[in-house]
Amino acid sequence: MAAKRVMVIHGCNLDLLGKREPAIYGSATLAEIDQQIASVAADLGLEVRSVQSNHEGEIIEAIHGCAGWADGIIINPAGFTTTSVGILDAIKAVALPTVEVHLSNVHAREEFRRHSVIAPGTIGQICGFGASSYLLALRALAERLAD
Ligand code: DQA
Repeated sequence: MAAKRVMVIHGCNLDLLGKREPAIYGSATLAEIDQQIASVAADLGLEVRSVQSNHEGEIIEAIHGCAGWADGIIINPAGFTTTSVGILDAIKAVALPTVEVHLSNVHAREEFRRHSVIAPGTIGQICGFGASSYLLALRALAERLAD
């Protein structure tokens, strides 16, 4: 059977990981997190690609691009989480199982971070485990795709 394909989408400001508020987001860079994702994906027999953008429209286009390539999506919408109906609609449009992730526990931070407009388009949300949030999401998606 062909390997299942997962697109990992990192939203705005995540290119600054490692330097950005390390007490909240950790000291790993995005490249290091992508390496961990690639390693766990290989263990799970998944094919994975990662993309980061600071632009909402580019993220929407990356989601559109998943149609015809990906079997599932992992997205950290970052600062777009609480506002982007456009990202929600794109996820609904491609109709691929999607897991929302956050490095930090958004529910233990400022109130405005708690309400995700993306969540209704997803199969679940994992937050608060740092880079491991992505790795847990990979495992959850692998199980879902194997069903
Ligand atoms: C984040 C949490 C968001 O509230 C914030 O805007 C981010 C990162 C996280 O991964 O913890 O940029 O999505």
